[in-house]
Amino acid sequence: MRTWLHYISLGLLFSLVFTACGPDDGLPARGATIDFPLLDLPYAPESYTYKVPAHFQELPQPDSNLATVAGVELGRRLFYDPILSRDSSISCASCHFPEAGFTDQLAFSPGIIGEKTLRSSMSLINIAYQSSYFWDGRSATLEEQSLHPIEDPIEMDATWPEIEARLRNSSNYRAGFRAAFGIENSGEIDRYLAAKALSQFERSLISGNSRYDQIRFNLNGFFTPLEEDGFDLFTTEPSQDHPGCAHCHNALMFSDNRFLNNGIDSTETLDGFTDLGRGAISGNPFDNGKFRSPTLRNIELTAPYMHDGRFATLDEVLDHYASGGHYSPTKDPQITGFPLSPYDREAMKAFLLTLTDTTSLKDPALSNPF
Ligand code: HEC
Ligand code: HEC
Repeated sequence: MRTWLHYISLGLLFSLVFTACGPDDGLPARGATIDFPLLDLPYAPESYTYKVPAHFQELPQPDSNLATVAGVELGRRLFYDPILSRDSSISCASCHFPEAGFTDQLAFSPGIIGEKTLRSSMSLINIAYQSSYFWDGRSATLEEQSLHPIEDPIEMDATWPEIEARLRNSSNYRAGFRAAFGIENSGEIDRYLAAKALSQFERSLISGNSRYDQIRFNLNGFFTPLEEDGFDLFTTEPSQDHPGCAHCHNALMFSDNRFLNNGIDSTETLDGFTDLGRGAISGNPFDNGKFRSPTLRNIELTAPYMHDGRFATLDEVLDHYASGGHYSPTKDPQITGFPLSPYDREAMKAFLLTLTDTTSLKDPALSNPF
């Protein structure tokens, strides 16, 4: 068993011999990390098999970050560890926790300085299948997305050099990064490896065992007549008579990865939206007011709804769509409004509740490891 003193002396020796010396005495600057050699720690990579339901496509993962058992486990620790925030008070899971379908059930989330996020936290379920991240799709990969919350002043308000130093100074994380990535020295622990591990874990947040999945794909059980009618209303193409929600929230993910304006804002002009959404990223004014159509899986657990959490209940959401929403220049033509009888309302809600999947949300492998 090596002691921390042993590592420090080894590290000091290492930095004296191999790295550039400080201004005069060659000792590391105050607050700097000391390099620890890691070769004695175990590294035996074993590829991780994501638990993908049989009716899902193969889970996409980048060749540059294929998951390993140790990588997913490290990502899980990072995800639940408040060490990633400036004052060690909040973790990723503070705003994305399992019981809430990996959202936080708030319209806007308080970060560590008490200020609130400008948009509502998003579900991370089946995130591997998305083609972009955030409400406005400003991150193209999960690896890139993972770099942002740490330095976002309203979220975790830290700096990466500070977080990298904390991780390098932790014997647990040194062992974790060594096991996940085979690095040979603690100095190699950096934001990019942390982002890789976080992404490997987030890809394991898979949900495909709701009643809907059981009934439609595992032929296990039946919809009630009410749910069946709700399913028909949901999936028939939208028109003046039909809600046609599946036009934009299509199975299996109940999201189509497109950016659309579903008519929640009212403005006569292209620049009149409170939040420009996709337009601020693409620079195209005809994208103003458009947001990613989010997944409706676990929708029962993720209220309040929309990018600004303006609707508290599914009834309010249905009222919005039935009314045809508000006029704005980029509003999608499919938001037509439709008659919503009390029966249809109950049927649609009953169907939406079949998308709740508590088995995955209660999976111990996805829960807080601390
Ligand atoms: C203070 C709350 C907060 C914390 C802490 C936080 N997030 Fe988020 N997260 C949000 C909000 C709000 C959004 C949506 C922001 C937007 O679209 O502009 C979001 C969006 C995301 C998305 C995009 C999801 C999608 O469907 O496109 C991912 C992935 C994500 N967060 C992962 C993380 C990870 C990983 C961490 C920790 C390193 C983290 N978040 C920490 C609030 C938070
Ligand atoms: C034209 C495409 C379109 C149609 C049709 C549509 N939606 Fe949406 N839906 C969206 C978009 C885009 C958003 C995100 C809007 C935002 O937050 O600004 C959204 C958001 C939602 C949300 C909030 C999800 C969350 O995580 O906050 C719910 C619930 C929802 N839709 C349900 C429905 C139902 C039910 C129907 C059918 C009555 C429907 N949608 C029809 C595009 C559509």
